[in-house]
Amino acid sequence: MNEFALEDYLEKHTTGPSELLLEMIRLTNLRTRFPRMLSGHIQGKFLEMVSKMLKPKRILEIGTFTGYSALSLAEGLVEDGKLVTIEYDEEYEDLIRYFIEKSGNGARIQLLIGDAKLILPTIDEIFDLVFIDADKFGYPVYYEQVMEKLHSGGIILVDNVLWSGKVVNPGSKDAETAAIIKFNNIVANDPRVEQVLLPLRDGLMMIRKL
Ligand SMILES: C[S@@+](CC[C@H](N)C(=O)[O-])C[C@H]1O[C@@H](n2cnc3c(N)ncnc32)[C@H](O)[C@@H]1O
Repeated sequence: MNEFALEDYLEKHTTGPSELLLEMIRLTNLRTRFPRMLSGHIQGKFLEMVSKMLKPKRILEIGTFTGYSALSLAEGLVEDGKLVTIEYDEEYEDLIRYFIEKSGNGARIQLLIGDAKLILPTIDEIFDLVFIDADKFGYPVYYEQVMEKLHSGGIILVDNVLWSGKVVNPGSKDAETAAIIKFNNIVANDPRVEQVLLPLRDGLMMIRKL
């Protein structure tokens, strides 16, 4: 099967992004070096749908980039809900704030700039839904930090767990692949959770705290 034809077919049969998200895609391509980091159309819609199904009161995101996943996840928040999103790179702050303000969910989204590993211990909240999508070396650390802040029955979604398929390629010996493999094994052997690894885009792990 042609990979590009399949991607095209999936996109054509998935509800399209809002005008605001299309603007985000355009500006992210114009103003950032790694626009590929955006969740984009299909994964963004999936995150939005999960959030709308769960109707969370508190969402945490680690790794905002320009805000595609944050805005998508915020669509499912209950009326008095709140999404906290953490981004390390202050270079993206103006773009993120621009889109948060325009989204209509501005009052419910809190952006924190800094290293998530240092910020997480200062957050005094219990979350219903967490999206981990920052540096891959940090995944095992974020996972432990987040488990302490998650309701029983709460969901953690983790992006890039297939790492372009390198997790099943014995020839891939780079440190990031090793970190993802380590993380996937930690989750698979953790009796505190049940999980499903979805082959969506670059692999999305859905973890439920028992
Ligand atoms: C793949 S991008 C996030 C994409 C975004 N979640 C989306 O779906 O559109 C990863 C982001 O994590 C940020 N990041 C990396 N290390 C971080 C850290 N220690 N704390 C917070 N953010 C971090 C990077 O600067 C980058 O913007």
